[in-house]
Amino acid sequence: MLSSLLHSPRVNITPQYILFFLCFLVLVMVLVRFCAIPKGSHQRRQSQDLSPMLPYPLPFFGHTVSFIMNSEKLINHGREFFGNTRNIFSIVILGKSFHILTNPRHVAIVHSKPTTFEFTGILKDALIALGASKEAARVLWSPKSVKDVLRKGVIPSSHDLQIRQTSGKDLKTLSHYICGFLKERTSPEAITLAHNTQSGVESLSIMEWARENIIFAMQDAYFGPQLHKIDPTLPRAMIEFSDLAWQAWYQVPWFLRRKQLSLCKRMLSSYQRYLDLPTNERKATAWFTGAFEKSFQEVLTNHTDKAALMMFFHWGIGMNPADATGWLVAHITFDTSLTEIIREETAPAFKDNGSLDTFYLATSCPTLLSVWYEVLRLYTSVTTMRNVTEETNIGDIHFDKGDKLMFSARQLALDETVFSKNAAEFDAMRFLKNPELQYSESLRPFGGGKTICPGRTLAMHVAMALVAILLRRYNITPAFPQEFPQPFEGDPSIGVMRTKDGLYMHLEKRT
Ligand code: HEM
Repeated sequence: MLSSLLHSPRVNITPQYILFFLCFLVLVMVLVRFCAIPKGSHQRRQSQDLSPMLPYPLPFFGHTVSFIMNSEKLINHGREFFGNTRNIFSIVILGKSFHILTNPRHVAIVHSKPTTFEFTGILKDALIALGASKEAARVLWSPKSVKDVLRKGVIPSSHDLQIRQTSGKDLKTLSHYICGFLKERTSPEAITLAHNTQSGVESLSIMEWARENIIFAMQDAYFGPQLHKIDPTLPRAMIEFSDLAWQAWYQVPWFLRRKQLSLCKRMLSSYQRYLDLPTNERKATAWFTGAFEKSFQEVLTNHTDKAALMMFFHWGIGMNPADATGWLVAHITFDTSLTEIIREETAPAFKDNGSLDTFYLATSCPTLLSVWYEVLRLYTSVTTMRNVTEETNIGDIHFDKGDKLMFSARQLALDETVFSKNAAEFDAMRFLKNPELQYSESLRPFGGGKTICPGRTLAMHVAMALVAILLRRYNITPAFPQEFPQPFEGDPSIGVMRTKDGLYMHLEKRT
């Protein structure tokens, strides 16, 4: 396993890496010699009310390597090891234990007690890993001053602003702008340019293309065209960064995430240059960005802190919608009968003046909605963490202050007792046949409780808009015979899964 880790294209083999590896070997030998723990025994847990530990071979390292190689597989293994009861169990990553939750009831309890099971510390750590200082992370989540009547702080208040920005007439303005942007990006000239030669045939790598264009569209709507002028490569850099972002999220030591850090550094300089422009030169359709900036400018003074926050925000609004749209477009265009149904279903959303009503798409296209939920169910693999802030229980399992919990949306979403025997397969009509499933506790692509994703409606409008525009303008067929892409399970996921395979399609203008 270690050898495949070493040979993985994701790991840069540098002198530091080799040094680390040697230290690792020496440490393992010392640990095994002096504190050999028999496989399967459990150091910490003795009492009945503590979650049982999944056996591991080496102290300290515990399940680290298997978690990094394939977190979903490890959690599956743990669930099955304990008889698939969906009771809580623990794993060890770099000496820290994490309680693993796979029961939707337990996850609902966590969401209902945001103070006891807090998310803030996890977000702060992620922001720091992007380059912000500890002090910045502290002040951003603290009430600004006595004048801060809501006593909430910059980031918690921004959640409320984001909800306002992505509902009602503000959502209408935003999605109208994004549709205009996507129409330009899907013009025959732009599509011809995006085609490449693959296996000797002119084709469009449609998932990659959709990903990049959704990030670009969200960037343009939230930051205005100036950010693109400063750095035209930012959408591509964001994709590259996002593929490695788990390394920041899980606090991988700096010498093992040099590529991620250097990308981050490069991107931070673009956000800095953007923030250096006078505010009247950075008009964006989303008023949110200006309001957010005004509030963080009051508490932050350091340029890098501000740029890191902008990057965090950009990543949050762009990556998950981009990946989800990639899968949505892929499934719909790969299946000819689905293409036809959805083309017909979405046609009335186009008005006589050519504008597209995304509210119609979101409310009156049941097949499209079913495919959207199915994509989120099958490919959202968000592994979410929480810090326990006070002694508490879930069922008969006890948690101490300082404990850490982890749960994955995908573990819930693949539950055969809820989503039937074919839960692991893609079924476009699943939510059409049983619309109640969209309210299931086992469907948690956007989290839940107080921190539930505020951008979920916008994400749906944007993804559906791209599908409707593509199907109206083009006949889309596989460029050559190929298998449908598979989700890549090889990194710990912190959002919608991606694929290593491409889907190569040919787009021909409809007459
Ligand atoms: C398919 C698309 C998306 C998915 C799957 C997704 C997923 C999530 C999840 C799972 C969380 C909650 C994490 C937790 O509580 O553990 C979250 C939070 C958040 N999302 Fe999204 N998201 C998506 C799109 C968006 C968009 C488009 C925006 C902004 C326009 C956005 C902004 C945020 C913000 C600001 C939070 C933090 C909420 C808080 O902590 O108060 N997301 N998202």
